[in-house]
Amino acid sequence: MGDLVGNLVSFTSITAATLVGVYACFLGLIATSFFQSHAVYLHAIQMTWFKDLNSPEVFGFLHNQVTPFSINVSDGETLYAWHILPFEAYRKHESDLLDEPAGFVTDITSRLAFKLLRDDPEAILILHMHGAGGTVGSGYRTPNYRALSAGRPDKIHVLTFDYRGFGRSTGSPSEPGMFLDGLAVVEWALKVAGIPPERIIVFSQSMGTAVTCALIEHYALESPPTIFAGTIMVASFVDVPTLVATYRIAGTVPILGPFAKFPSLFRFLSRFIRDKWPSGERLGSYVRSNEAHGRKYRLTLIHAQDDYDIPWTHTPVNFWRAVNATVPGGITYKELDAEKDSIRRDLGAAGTVVEWRTANGVIREEILKYGLHDVVMGYPIVTMAVMRILDPR
Ligand SMILES: *[C@@H]1O[C@H](CO)[C@@H](O)[C@H](O)[C@H]1NC(C)=O
Ligand SMILES: *[C@@H]1O[C@H](CO)[C@@H](O)[C@H](O)[C@H]1NC(C)=O
Repeated sequence: MGDLVGNLVSFTSITAATLVGVYACFLGLIATSFFQSHAVYLHAIQMTWFKDLNSPEVFGFLHNQVTPFSINVSDGETLYAWHILPFEAYRKHESDLLDEPAGFVTDITSRLAFKLLRDDPEAILILHMHGAGGTVGSGYRTPNYRALSAGRPDKIHVLTFDYRGFGRSTGSPSEPGMFLDGLAVVEWALKVAGIPPERIIVFSQSMGTAVTCALIEHYALESPPTIFAGTIMVASFVDVPTLVATYRIAGTVPILGPFAKFPSLFRFLSRFIRDKWPSGERLGSYVRSNEAHGRKYRLTLIHAQDDYDIPWTHTPVNFWRAVNATVPGGITYKELDAEKDSIRRDLGAAGTVVEWRTANGVIREEILKYGLHDVVMGYPIVTMAVMRILDPR
């Protein structure tokens, strides 16, 4: 009996020691930049293996509706991109589009689809910044493109691309590198396609929201500034350290969560996080700059409460960081929360909406009850977000 208890005790302590050891190794591994890069960006997970991105028909598009091409980045990397023509523009020019050769295009400016974008003074271009993992053709991204252009199927074109290290793009992902990727895409839109910022909307989800915050802040602070017609972010997060503190693998295993209870230890560990992507801070700086100079801006933050990858509670914090920048002297999270109680619209099973308007801008927070992390991207709420930007009231 005593032996049994003794065995149990030693077994338990060995198991506990092993677990602590494994966890320590895990943390050590996390500290390496190779592991961090793969864990944060998931770029090795393509989800479109065995499917040829140069045949977008494989992903459900019409023949020659999508033009696969590439965009050069300033540091020598090459990004793989798709220009997606909206349905009604396609239907009007169907016969001519079908006459063109299919597949990857080296000179996109020679293509009819591109000319329909460049030469239409009312064309709208959505720059799409996808999330971690996969490619332009993955999962819920294709219904997402349809939802984005559904509001104006004759006018809304989508440009989507893979960041460095993803899919067919060269290089490997990092915060400075992906920022350069974003710059290259925006410059392509402004200079090659010749679309003015008033006709450009930036849509992003998950990891892409971090790239978007870096971009909109950069362009707002430039002189002269470039302010896009609107920014839509689905499942954004405050920054990587905060995300790591709240993230649970498969919704159960916390990574650094246990350390979040000890702020100084957590701050110490956070130092080893290579790419921090401080989106909350960048949103504040973007909004502050627009408010200071009286520039028009529209920001929509969408998040579903059943998102198991990025907890929805990140979005109210980002909303607060943006709103705080509109209030002289600032507003605390608690004060804003109290204020939200009087302006929040309850949409029943659809969730809630809070809209914060200033003389210059509109900041919307839409918290859905259902939509998971990525299914929401194909929902009408995304179509509506685009339409609200195009037809403000
Ligand atoms: C992109 O770079 C390659 C060489 O790296 C060059 O051949 C190509 O012309 C460039 N494309 C554009 C559109 O500038
Ligand atoms: C809130 O706004 C105030 C005033 O602009 C600023 O000093 C403060 O840093 C902001 N707080 C956050 C968390 O962004």
